Amino acid sequence: MQLTLREINFFYGTYQALFNINLTCLSGDIVVLLGPSGAGKSSLLRILNLLEIPSNGQLNIAGNHFDFSNVPKINAIISLRKQVGMVFQQYNLWPHLTVRQNLIEAPCRVQGVVRAIANIRADKLLNRLKLKNFADRFPLHLSGGEQQRVAIARALMMEPKVLLFDEPTAALDPEITAQIISIIRELSQTGIIQVIVTHEIELARKIASYVVYMESGKIIEQGDASHFTCPQTINFANYLSH
Ligand SMILES: Nc1ncnc2c1ncn2[C@@H]1O[C@H](COP(=O)(O)OP(=O)(O)OP(=O)(O)O)[C@@H](O)[C@H]1O
Ligand SMILES: [Mg+2]
Repeated sequence: MQLTLREINFFYGTYQALFNINLTCLSGDIVVLLGPSGAGKSSLLRILNLLEIPSNGQLNIAGNHFDFSNVPKINAIISLRKQVGMVFQQYNLWPHLTVRQNLIEAPCRVQGVVRAIANIRADKLLNRLKLKNFADRFPLHLSGGEQQRVAIARALMMEPKVLLFDEPTAALDPEITAQIISIIRELSQTGIIQVIVTHEIELARKIASYVVYMESGKIIEQGDASHFTCPQTINFANYLSH
């Protein structure tokens, strides 16, 4: 499975936020997007599940092909979203639903999965993410780290091929961050592609199989994890030294 972006340009109104983005990721990759605030990391992430639509270029994910010189069809966007999950920094859990209900809601409604099957899927994930004892609690009665694990479990309920994270550990303490890291590593063994935006260089060093460094809407440097020890540009070297 591959994810490719070709010659992507993206505007907010007249403001160009991304310039000529080219990127290829492979099955099992853990891609880390780094760069200063405003570099365009979140915008790029949001393009991967078409929360933002580029003005031109191409996107390929898991057999879904988009050429943005044509406006994408709504059915094609829905089909892509079923395969591309997203985990936000603010968890975005439904506060009025229990953990279990948070997990089974989308598969039942969007994918039409039968409730009993969704519950079996939920039980497996609750076990895997060590959340079994929290199934009947409401999100507000969980710690930040537990909520983040629920958010990951909820995204995994859709059995995505690609999982996107925007600053997944920004509000978490080191121990919980370590748990999230081990979940991300475990997931990469299943072949899923994970794309992670973070400001935490140490986290990036620990998990990245591929690193993308951005500034002002452009990719300045990209490559495998060896770029952390041997950066190819002064910009990335400076960023790493902060
Ligand atoms: N909805 C929007 N409308 C207009 N401009 C936006 C919008 N969202 C982001 N931008 C602008 O696009 C640029 C890229 O923003 P983006 O959120 O992608 O950056 P980022 O790298 O994720 O930054 P941060 O590290 O602070 O989260 C910024 O200059 C930002 O001000
Ligand atoms: Mg951002």
